[in-house]
Amino acid sequence: MQSAHTMPSPATASPRYARCIENSKRIRWDIDRDVIRQREFGAADKFLPDGMTLLEERLAFLSPGERRFLNRIQGRTYANMFGLIERFVGAKMLEVSRDHWFGDQVALEALVRFTDEELKHQELFRRIEGLAARCMPAGYLFVPEPNTVAQFVLGKCTWAVLALTCDVELVTQVHYRESIAVDAEISPLFKDVFLFHWKEESQHAVLDELEWQREDAKLTPEERDAAVDDLIALVAGVDGLLQLQAQADCTYFMANKPQAGVLDAGEVETVRNALLAAYRWQYIHSGVAQVRFGELLTGLITPAQGQRIQGALAGLQ
Ligand SMILES: [Fe+2]
Ligand SMILES: [Fe+2]
Repeated sequence: MQSAHTMPSPATASPRYARCIENSKRIRWDIDRDVIRQREFGAADKFLPDGMTLLEERLAFLSPGERRFLNRIQGRTYANMFGLIERFVGAKMLEVSRDHWFGDQVALEALVRFTDEELKHQELFRRIEGLAARCMPAGYLFVPEPNTVAQFVLGKCTWAVLALTCDVELVTQVHYRESIAVDAEISPLFKDVFLFHWKEESQHAVLDELEWQREDAKLTPEERDAAVDDLIALVAGVDGLLQLQAQADCTYFMANKPQAGVLDAGEVETVRNALLAAYRWQYIHSGVAQVRFGELLTGLITPAQGQRIQGALAGLQ
């Protein structure tokens, strides 16, 4: 395994940062004018594609109405999860922008725009949570607290945080392009939220790559080895959140499900496990499976480090 670092030289760094600025300006959107446009969700709207929720394949014993309700719960959690992640992503980008303060002003502008966009996305996802609350029964709980999670994540080294960020920001693109955009049944408002989000995330994923590689070039082999452990700890931390949220979403489902029939304890456990499997797919495995992320990661680490990461992921099935 080569650990040759592909950090762009100073002469070539700016063109990629500059293109991100250009694209960011060209596609810039407004929450009310472009995304929400005074729309609301309908009471039976579908939020997420079946390939992301895993409901059709794992919970066929539920009625279509129950599965639709679970789809809406997962969609609400999906929007909240991105709002949560963006808290630490924005803070980390502000932090790494320090390296550019008195250097590449184009790179600095790209990272400032990135942070500004993440603040806007958090506002968008708060608005979406408010709209979802208006058309779903009371009692939904999004468990993770953004600042607590951000403190945990930002306690790990920058290399690991940028690796996780790059993964998540590539995920938003793959989910939108390959699943959400092509599902004709999804709520037009929900689809637009992730269309507009994807447009800005496309620039973020490029900037993640540039900053991750720039950070990697600063590390000794020993520091990089420790950074791999931090990345594994971050993935375990994410999984802990997913377990809590799967439990909370299962409890909310049981308390509010549309059909009055009672599920036995085994069926409730099956619902909880299906939610956890879907969340692990959405936030962990579908990201790691992306070719681009794999190329970037294996370009920076040794085969032994890659096996450590694979071993940790294998425990999350
Ligand atoms: Fe975002
Ligand atoms: Fe982003």
